[in-house]
Amino acid sequence: PYVITEACIKCKYAYCLEVCPVDCFYEGENMLVINPYECIDCSACEPECPAEAIVPDTDMLAEKWLQLNQEYAEKWPNITRRKAAPADADSYNGESDKYNKYFS
Ligand code: SF4
Ligand code: F3S
Repeated sequence: PYVITEACIKCKYAYCLEVCPVDCFYEGENMLVINPYECIDCSACEPECPAEAIVPDTDMLAEKWLQLNQEYAEKWPNITRRKAAPADADSYNGESDKYNKYFS
């Protein structure tokens, strides 16, 4: 499966979910996660993210986020229609350590 990493936090552009054939995105307050059990590995979402937040689980970066995606996909509601990104999304794009600073 593919997973969403901390680059999504406070960017939440939400272009990713628009292309997903199985609607496996879940929405938290300031990021989205993918349910890795529902993702069919089609890779369509990866290039859609302007924050480059989406990686395959084979990526070195993914290890740390796979568990978080799994955990929160069970807690957060499914999101299937795009909402506009936060007005200040671009100012957080590329910032490091967003999980420790902003995750909620
Ligand atoms: Fe959905 Fe495909 Fe992305 Fe998996 S890889 S989350 S199935 S768009
Ligand atoms: Fe997040 Fe990128 Fe989707 S910022 S909401 S993973 S388009």
